[in-house]
Amino acid sequence: MTTVTTVVPQSAPQEILERYNRVRRRTLALCDPLSAEDMMVQSCPEASPVKWHLAHTSWFFESFVLRPFLPEYRAFNAEFSWLFNSYYQSYSAFPAKRLRSSFSRPGLDEVLHYRGWVDAGMERLIAADPRPEALRLIELGANHEEQHQELLLTDILHAFFTNPLRPDYRAWSESDDLAGMKSGESDQAATRGAEAGRLEFDRYEGGLREVGRQADGFCFDNELPRHRAWIEHFFLGRRLVTCGEFADFIADGGYRRPELWLSAGWDAVNANAWVAPLYWTRQEGDDRDWRIFTLRGEFPLQALAAVPVSHVSFYEADAFARWASKRLPTEFEWESVAEGRQISGNMLSSGRLLPAPPPAGSPSLYSGDGPAQLFGDCWEWTASAYLPYPGFQPLPGSLGEYNGKFMSGQMVLRGGSCVTPDGHIRATYRNFFSPETRWQFSGIRLAR
Ligand SMILES: [Fe+2]
Repeated sequence: MTTVTTVVPQSAPQEILERYNRVRRRTLALCDPLSAEDMMVQSCPEASPVKWHLAHTSWFFESFVLRPFLPEYRAFNAEFSWLFNSYYQSYSAFPAKRLRSSFSRPGLDEVLHYRGWVDAGMERLIAADPRPEALRLIELGANHEEQHQELLLTDILHAFFTNPLRPDYRAWSESDDLAGMKSGESDQAATRGAEAGRLEFDRYEGGLREVGRQADGFCFDNELPRHRAWIEHFFLGRRLVTCGEFADFIADGGYRRPELWLSAGWDAVNANAWVAPLYWTRQEGDDRDWRIFTLRGEFPLQALAAVPVSHVSFYEADAFARWASKRLPTEFEWESVAEGRQISGNMLSSGRLLPAPPPAGSPSLYSGDGPAQLFGDCWEWTASAYLPYPGFQPLPGSLGEYNGKFMSGQMVLRGGSCVTPDGHIRATYRNFFSPETRWQFSGIRLAR
């Protein structure tokens, strides 16, 4: 029988308290640039208001750690047990997701008090030397909150894009290396297009490989069990596809050529009137004069030409690959290249908040001798449907709904993004979204 034990190993109580406090503080720090009004916006069906993220991440600890493991725990507000449930059907009823922005009550102050109440309970629980099972669930809750930190930023990016004023989440400054990019007119910006260089491919040997998480260290249930997979010889791109390359696809009529698209993808292009990635806008009729909105404000395409293209759907990634006479890698091809490499790159702690070009002269800056940009920058769409591994066992109880029930109609993404908290990502990590999803930092790595 698989229990949570095999998925979430135990950490020492002091260690887990420090980890808990760090994660909770970071969530609040991400709210520093935001007003209470910003935190109410839910600008697309996929997104949630920031205030909801603040409450829901507390609800997770309250529901799955404090209630079962702290006998004297008294709920902050009994109504919150269903109000801030996201999708755990077996736990309680919950409001429709689209209604989250209508929760003007509880107000932000009350939600922040709720967070403090839960934090105090967690401190008491951890001080009381709780059972190993509780410590493992705290680690799961910390990872859950890290996922919501990324969502909080992608949701606020969408919210600010829909605001006619197009505010910056974090302004650029002259000392910032983004400074030259803002106008697209500086020498720095002019050289960036060449920095990414020609897209090269490396050949990797095929064979029988083991994929999925080894027993040590935290992982989600969907990364297990480790099992064998057959991989043919393949070639993988040394870096991600850039905005400049994607602009070539657009200029070549990419969005007007049905032969490049999967059937459902072509339907999505027409139904949604897609002509470019999300957050790209232009003057009417000019296929080169794009401006790209980011958490750091709006940039001309020229300034981001060597930066990985982001906010594309699986369908757009697939169509681009077909246009380039390439394909997307499978999740196991990706994992076989990433496994064992150093996990570093342009992630949340860099503060950049948008993807970065590969450094000049180094095709492999982030990951030893392997491809650049494997971790961080953009989640990489794979050609793999999100399915259970052979012998998959969801977590027991309501937490079994965390990952397993979404294993239909979604595609796997790998590698994390520029807003993924450092330490959250690993080679076996499986993100998943439906193929038309664009509001995440999702990009393209080619294979052949
Ligand atoms: Fe959640």
